[in-house]
Amino acid sequence: MDNLDDLKAELLEAVAGAGDAATLETARVAALGKKGRITAMMKTLGGLDPVARKATGQALNALRDEVQGAIDARKIDLESADLNARLATEKVDVTLPARPDPMGRLHPITQTIEEVSAIFGEMGFEIAEGPDIETDWYNFTALNIPREHPARQMFDTFYMAGSADQLEGAGAQLPAHLHGGIMQGGPEREVMLLRTHTSPVQIRTMEKQEPPIRILCPGRTYRCDSDMTHTPMFHQFEGLVIDEATHMGHLKGCLIEFCEAYFEVEDVPVRFRPSHFPFTEPSAEVDIGCNKRDGGLTIGHQGDEYDDWLEILGSGMVHPRVIEMCGLDPEKYQGFAFGMGCERIAMLKYGIPDLRTFFDADTRWLKHYGFLPLDVPSLTGGLGQ
Ligand code: PHE
Repeated sequence: MDNLDDLKAELLEAVAGAGDAATLETARVAALGKKGRITAMMKTLGGLDPVARKATGQALNALRDEVQGAIDARKIDLESADLNARLATEKVDVTLPARPDPMGRLHPITQTIEEVSAIFGEMGFEIAEGPDIETDWYNFTALNIPREHPARQMFDTFYMAGSADQLEGAGAQLPAHLHGGIMQGGPEREVMLLRTHTSPVQIRTMEKQEPPIRILCPGRTYRCDSDMTHTPMFHQFEGLVIDEATHMGHLKGCLIEFCEAYFEVEDVPVRFRPSHFPFTEPSAEVDIGCNKRDGGLTIGHQGDEYDDWLEILGSGMVHPRVIEMCGLDPEKYQGFAFGMGCERIAMLKYGIPDLRTFFDADTRWLKHYGFLPLDVPSLTGGLGQ
């Protein structure tokens, strides 16, 4: 029996001292395995007399159970220590900033939309949206461009199948390529087309919002035109300010301020050139002085020589007829609107020479002209240089 107490102490010590699963297994085999110490003693029971066999048998069984219990407990300890160690090494700090994928870039169009939105956002404009597929009413009629108006031809409109004939039947003059759809009668408001400009969002906004209104609408626009300087889909920004007091001076101040902030050049030459749009009166196009020397395209500086003007936007005081067609009182409300070409101003700021490359989906181009996703443009943090 003394013998057994010693053995028990020895075996339990081996179990307690096992620092990992393999050592513990060795200790288990040494005690309880086929050739283990306890197993070996069990085998000797047969040679004992019945009284001694019973007593020794019980003692051995108790010893075996105790050692087995110690092994099981130790195993659980070791496993949870293992797990804790692994958790410690695999810990993820979710509060760390993300590491940007060096391959991922924002397209210059996305970047430009964010920059322009940041500038007008600072001036108190809200972002507005409208559908790409518009009705003839919102795209033209409500903007004071009736069916017979020659401006409709200027816009090279993509009409939805059937819509062109429908319009022509109603007296509109359409370009030759628009002949040959399916005639499907219906009211003018149901003639569908791809919006040729973001100006329909002016109407949609005035219809549902009481002045004062100050919105900026970035979005896709479509014209049936494709060459060096035109793509069938391009982007515009529409701006609209309507209240009781806004005048042409505000229009000029706002757009000059925008040009200086966007191009990050304080003395960028800006020219307001008298123009005509059916939905504004008076109207002005805005040009930026630039250099086209050496086949490049760079922004000019006042006082310096620059050899060209590049038109970047159309603008004007919203025509009273338009205000009236939106259900507002033109005697009470007035304001200005502008429409700006997104690709144009992106090309000018970032020196991108060819418009068509914007839509080539060439990852090498994107890597060169794109922007890191986490560099969010802001007026205080810097826009995008
Ligand atoms: N919608 C005009 C265009 O696409 C631009 C414009 C918008 C002009 C608002 C004046 C006012 O050419």
